[in-house]
Amino acid sequence: MQDRDRRDILQVLNELVRYAEEHFQHEERIMAERGYPELDRHRDIHVGLFETLFSLQTKLEKGTIGSDKETVEFLRTWLTDHIAEEDRALGKFLAEAS
Ligand SMILES: [Fe+2]
Repeated sequence: MQDRDRRDILQVLNELVRYAEEHFQHEERIMAERGYPELDRHRDIHVGLFETLFSLQTKLEKGTIGSDKETVEFLRTWLTDHIAEEDRALGKFLAEAS
């Protein structure tokens, strides 16, 4: 991987870490306030996503990652599995509860 590509991906990941931290905290606060029954499970998933994000960041910083395949795979998992399924389930719960 070119150095410039690595730096670009790293920059995106850094922004993603900031965004994720804020978004996860906000979501967890809402789940706690509204008594969401899946809070613990959803929070565990956030922790897992965060750990993956950090591990990708570390690998990119150390230059031990050979391609951006892992990064793309992570983003796909995040977008499809998490936002589309877990966050949608939370949205449904909140809509039904209000
Ligand atoms: Fe979430």
